[in-house]
Amino acid sequence: MAAIVEEGEVKIFLEEFHNYRGPGRRRAGFYNPALEIDRDLNVAFCAYAAKNGARKFLDGLAATGIRGIRLAKEIGNIEVEINDYNPKSYELIKKNIELNNVDAIALNENLCVLLQRKRYDYIDIDPYGSPIPFISCLFKALKKRTYLAVTATDTATLCGAYKKACIRKYHSIPLRRMASKEAGLRILIAYVAKQAASFDYGFKPLLSYSWGHFFRVYGIMERGAGKAERSIQNIGWVVWDDGWKLLNFEKIDSKPLAGPMWIGKISEEDVVNAVKEIVEKKEMKRKKELMKLLTFIKEEISLPPLYYETGKVAKDVKVRQPKLQKIIDELQKKGYDAGRTHFMLNAVKTNAPYSVIKEIFT
Ligand SMILES: C[S@@+](CC[C@H](N)C(=O)[O-])C[C@H]1O[C@@H](n2cnc3c(N)ncnc32)[C@H](O)[C@@H]1O
Repeated sequence: MAAIVEEGEVKIFLEEFHNYRGPGRRRAGFYNPALEIDRDLNVAFCAYAAKNGARKFLDGLAATGIRGIRLAKEIGNIEVEINDYNPKSYELIKKNIELNNVDAIALNENLCVLLQRKRYDYIDIDPYGSPIPFISCLFKALKKRTYLAVTATDTATLCGAYKKACIRKYHSIPLRRMASKEAGLRILIAYVAKQAASFDYGFKPLLSYSWGHFFRVYGIMERGAGKAERSIQNIGWVVWDDGWKLLNFEKIDSKPLAGPMWIGKISEEDVVNAVKEIVEKKEMKRKKELMKLLTFIKEEISLPPLYYETGKVAKDVKVRQPKLQKIIDELQKKGYDAGRTHFMLNAVKTNAPYSVIKEIFT
């Protein structure tokens, strides 16, 4: 049944409303209400990008147009183009632009074609499944500096349920046993950075996270061979040496378990702080939840990469799972860094060797 939903400061007309819990079904004018929080964060990140000079924004895979319409309405003083190749979606986007009386342009093109003839300061790639088909056609559309947002919903592939597909598509071996979500996100970032380097662009992730069934990365593309060189210094492998070690190509001397993947920071503290400040000042239905996510992301920046799932460690040492906070306190008492992660609520990030973690469990 047709419906009008309200989200942020806009109203969106839908041909049919579906209250999806997971990824939802592919159909013209697709709208997933569960992702409101993701789109709230999108508005906040774009407000940050606008403050830092971005003017021309593209919602490249728009469906109803909600992301672009929210930017046009809630940020202001920016140019917004909203594109979808599906003619029914295009009609819906035009209708929704009119409904909200916003200054935005609807486009009805194959994104890869559009990206060959126009340039943007911000490009949003929010596909069904993998963003891979859109990454290699991106580079002509980039300016000297262009912000990029990429979603991937093929998390089963990136997290190792389909190892062969991950190798075939992302050219990386995924992690399956533990920490597979963070490893999957790092594989996605490395893929984008490697493609960027081939086109003499450096990619830097600014705010990255996993939520429900998808990964999302906000980053910046910067033109220059030097930038590209520096960016790919952050690509390496995971080895197991009494715990996770992430090493770059030169330092590898044992058989890697997974990779290549991004081994540098996946979010930048100044960006997360700036986005948090923007969220704090805005009215949002799920603000508390979003602030919690951003706080997690911020705290994780200073913690070691990857994590140990407490249920799996307990199984390994054949004991009952201790309370997470107790494990963190014990590790910190011993002088190690330790903390929680948004990737998995029952997991610990730490630089302690696995033998020490196991001792704490017993
Ligand atoms: C996951 S939906 C986008 C959801 C939307 N961004 C949101 O937040 O609600 C993906 C959209 O991409 C469109 N699409 C897929 N391939 C495309 C292409 N090559 N060019 C343009 N649009 C495309 C589909 O028609 C679909 O509407």
